[in-house]
Amino acid sequence: MMFKIPFSQPLIDEDVVAEVLDSLLNTGWLTSGPKVQALEAEVREYTGAQAVVCVNSWTSGAMLALKWFGVGPGDEVIIPACTYAATALCALNIGASVVMVDVLDDFTLNPEQLERAITSRTKAIIPVDLGGWPADYDRISDILGDESVISRFTPATAAQEKLGRPLLLADAAHSIGARYKGRRSGTCADITVLSFHSVKNITTGEGGAVCLQLPPVFEPQEEYRFMKLYSLNGQSKSTYEKNMPGDWRYDIVEQGLKINMPDLSAAVGLAQLRKYDRQLLPERYELFRLYQECLGVDQRMILPQLYNEAGTVSSGHLFLLRIDGLTEPDRDTIIADMARGGIGLNVHYIPLPMMTLFRQLGFSMDDYPNALRLYMNEITLPLYNGLAPDSVRVVCDKLLQYTS
Ligand SMILES: Cc1ncc(COP(=O)(O)O)c(C=O)c1O
Repeated sequence: MMFKIPFSQPLIDEDVVAEVLDSLLNTGWLTSGPKVQALEAEVREYTGAQAVVCVNSWTSGAMLALKWFGVGPGDEVIIPACTYAATALCALNIGASVVMVDVLDDFTLNPEQLERAITSRTKAIIPVDLGGWPADYDRISDILGDESVISRFTPATAAQEKLGRPLLLADAAHSIGARYKGRRSGTCADITVLSFHSVKNITTGEGGAVCLQLPPVFEPQEEYRFMKLYSLNGQSKSTYEKNMPGDWRYDIVEQGLKINMPDLSAAVGLAQLRKYDRQLLPERYELFRLYQECLGVDQRMILPQLYNEAGTVSSGHLFLLRIDGLTEPDRDTIIADMARGGIGLNVHYIPLPMMTLFRQLGFSMDDYPNALRLYMNEITLPLYNGLAPDSVRVVCDKLLQYTS
């Protein structure tokens, strides 16, 4: 069955088609080439980050960042229990262990619990900007800068020695365009990884970007060069560079990954990013406000926020609605009912400890009461460029029938 109002839909408009055609017809490049270079430069300019490396997913970008820092077996990475599995898998897949902490009512990592979870094995913290709402980076940075954390930190690589504390690695899969106290997503942590997966605010089909905002002890251009070559098999020159006259010889200098972004993908993202602030983000905010307005008439609706007085602004990626007093079976009935009526709804997220893999790893939902409480009555509503305001009204009218 096709949904009349799907939960999500990628934006494929004439600007995207024109940029992809330009890539195909005018550049002669399919793998990483001029479009990837342009996307890196434009994401850097957009976010204000020191340097940006484009890769083929958020997951691979996070693995790259952790590898760069020298995280591996025996190390611990702290993440929130309420997130997509990739936040954990990027650490598990390089041999590190994951430690989970509970979340606040805004779905972001609980800093108090973080403080208690840090050990001498902790090498990285990955807060998640869930739904596009930034985690509390100042509070988390304060904790990481605390003398008790610094004295427990046991550096094992040159990068760890230089930083002198656990790496703050932001999962900004949802939050390109968001601001934390006025600062753009991409600049609020040591390293921020964006996702350009096809349901995200900006997409390249599959893709991601690693944004560097390292303390002054690092030389960002040097780290950028390292990450570029690490993302392409540890090869000293890219295919693009090797294509220069007389420049065929190369070396393999690291046991790298093969996670570079193809030019065709970058072309899709470029077309979207160029009108993100001017058109795509304001359109999203309009739909977000319309949901707030239509659902705000009912006291039971617990609505997500778009901004606060401290200058924090969501990217409006997901509309995470919660309905006060709703049980989990009733929530599931609403989603099934609405699906039969042609409306696609979703839940973000089933907390990780509820999943088979994480249960087998020893995690228990008993340790994450707030993630469970938020999950049980949460419903994520359709929200994307191209969604008609009338469709938002239809979704709200139907939802309000269940609570009246
Ligand atoms: C919070 C979060 N983190 C990480 C990811 C992984 O992104 P990607 O599919 O680009 O690897 C996603 C994707 O859905 C996500 O929602």
